[in-house]
Amino acid sequence: MSSTIAELERRRVAARRGGGERRVAAQHAKGKLSARERLDVLLDEGSFEELDLFVEHNCTDFGMEAEVVPGDGVVTGSGTIDGRLVFVFSQDFTVFGGSLSERHAAKICKIMDMALKVGAPVVGLNDSGGARIQEGVASLGGYAEVFQRNVLASGVVPQLSLVMGPCAGGAVYSPAMTDFIFMVKDSSYMFVTGPDVVKTVTGEIVSQEDLGGAVTHTTKSSVADCAYDNDIEALLAARDFLGFLPASNRTGVPVRPCDDPFDRLEPSLDSLIPPSANQPYDMHELIGKVVDEGEFFELQPGHAGNIITGFGRIEGRTVGLVANQPMVLAGCLDINASKKAARFVRFCDAFEIPIVTFVDVPGFLPGVAQEHSGIIKHGAKLLFAYGEATVPKITVITRKAYGGAYDVMASKHLRGDLNYAWPTAEIAVMGAKGAVEIIFRGRSEAEIAERTAEYERRFANPFVAASKGFVDEIILPHSTRRRIALGLRKLRGKRLENPWKKHDNIPL
Ligand code: HXC
Repeated sequence: MSSTIAELERRRVAARRGGGERRVAAQHAKGKLSARERLDVLLDEGSFEELDLFVEHNCTDFGMEAEVVPGDGVVTGSGTIDGRLVFVFSQDFTVFGGSLSERHAAKICKIMDMALKVGAPVVGLNDSGGARIQEGVASLGGYAEVFQRNVLASGVVPQLSLVMGPCAGGAVYSPAMTDFIFMVKDSSYMFVTGPDVVKTVTGEIVSQEDLGGAVTHTTKSSVADCAYDNDIEALLAARDFLGFLPASNRTGVPVRPCDDPFDRLEPSLDSLIPPSANQPYDMHELIGKVVDEGEFFELQPGHAGNIITGFGRIEGRTVGLVANQPMVLAGCLDINASKKAARFVRFCDAFEIPIVTFVDVPGFLPGVAQEHSGIIKHGAKLLFAYGEATVPKITVITRKAYGGAYDVMASKHLRGDLNYAWPTAEIAVMGAKGAVEIIFRGRSEAEIAERTAEYERRFANPFVAASKGFVDEIILPHSTRRRIALGLRKLRGKRLENPWKKHDNIPL
């Protein structure tokens, strides 16, 4: 008996060596952790339970039968984060460059299937040279098996990808179909075709980092949500982040003990709005003062800064926050902001996370580039997302809510449950000056100024909207947290269903 146990131990130790010391050292030299070290940081200590440690590839071409490494380049299993179950895979770049074989894919599929069955998040740590070149089409089949599961899991269990090394070619499409992507600066990249192919086809010369590094994807392309300086920062952020997410679409949001009083008043918010309507202020300040302990996990902070999206907690329960940011493009909605917020709203709705929306929006961003690039279709995404969402929706208009953008931003008419306005709110078809210049075109400057003041008196306030019931109550800024907390308590029992359909046809 003891010899069989010893044999198991020997095999385990050998398998855990992955590609061997030389390759692990090479991984470290690049500033990267090994696949197992990453899991040690991600998961609660001692919680990892591995599966398929002894799985081997089945390739017999190119001398591969002589090159077998147990585990086949990916470590898979389950563990806990703050005591909550997650399923994980961590590609091991030291084994065939973390490349994906048929069996490597089957290991990933196995844990994805389990996650779906039991209702727990899937976290993928990606570090791979792509398809296992020696296997050819078997590897492509393996990718497609993973892709299919990404699709089926979407909206059922949260899927988070950490890209921590190469991720190129068709391989990018698995992370792309997960809910969130975190990347590591300078050591990870994602592109469909790399710099060499780009140079051959288009003549453009570009580095790996510029083409598909973490900064590029979290600022320009918005493929990724957050960029971190190193593996450890990314993994610790993932732990924090998963603390906000429900285990599945059936569990509801996680609940944490909370010492922050629900009725904490914030007198400083009474003077947050500057005296002049054209002066910006930082919407982060409002978010920070409303959520529990000021803790806000922002997504895509480097992209479309004119809208802020992320998670916070109220009374220990997760909420999704969406807010116009007057400091960037005056908070206008443009294509990027609409797409960013629409995807976030849909995630919240899929996972029963209530949505709190702070509105200060002068309208859609004007311009030929916006129109020609499809602001109509892309703006409709956010409108559609809010309109279809059935989770509790609480909206607070702090200042401007003009035109179509007023409608879009979780207005009463899109089934907003509680729509509040601060006394500083201005809810109108457009800004006073623009409106008067149209109605009174050609009149003297003095008359325009007089009419503008009149228009402002009439419309630059929340009372007209409140008189129609479009705003449920005009609230004092300092009591915003209390109002939201009480609103969320009330809405906990909300039940709302959309008409039966196979699925909707959101303007993609
Ligand atoms: C098999 C691979 C591999 C692969 C790397 N290796 N990629 N083995 N299949 N795809 C092996 C190397 O042979 C090497 O083995 C080890 O991994 C480390 O690779 P290096 O090249 O030494 O590392 P590095 O210099 O860091 O370069 C990493 C790399 C490069 C940029 C990823 O290895 C590379 O370009 N690989 C090929 C990428 C590729 O073309 N993949 C297929 C793309 S098509 P030893 O034994 O020396 O340690 C694709 C389609 C998917 O993925 C489609 C899905 C629909």
